[in-house]
Amino acid sequence: MPRVTFRSALQEVVAEVPEGTSLLDAAEKVGGQVGHSCGGVCACSTCHVWVRKGLESLSEQDDMELDRLDLAYDVKPQSRLACQAKVGSDDLEVWITEESLKAFMDENPNVRRALEAEGKWPPKKFA
Ligand code: FES
Repeated sequence: MPRVTFRSALQEVVAEVPEGTSLLDAAEKVGGQVGHSCGGVCACSTCHVWVRKGLESLSEQDDMELDRLDLAYDVKPQSRLACQAKVGSDDLEVWITEESLKAFMDENPNVRRALEAEGKWPPKKFA
């Protein structure tokens, strides 16, 4: 099974998932801190990630994802919405954007408060 490595300013986790799994589901399987305010129905952009390795192996972007990405911050050629991009046969390296990490902390205040208590939130650098 392909391996998906998720990295952010706070963590590195690796998921092994079957082809066809969304990046968001892969992240959730291993506690990857990817925000998903709309619940994964392509209605926000808080699951915005940068795919640093294996981009070509992901499912193709449709018009709905492209339109939604227009609303995201700091969009790059390697940007994808984690709820829409499906894993192919290749291993992947995925960076969780500042936008997505902040959304995750908004969605999980208990995690944010614990990190604040340890002096780890917010991180000094997001990228
Ligand atoms: S979770 Fe809202 S667009 Fe992906």
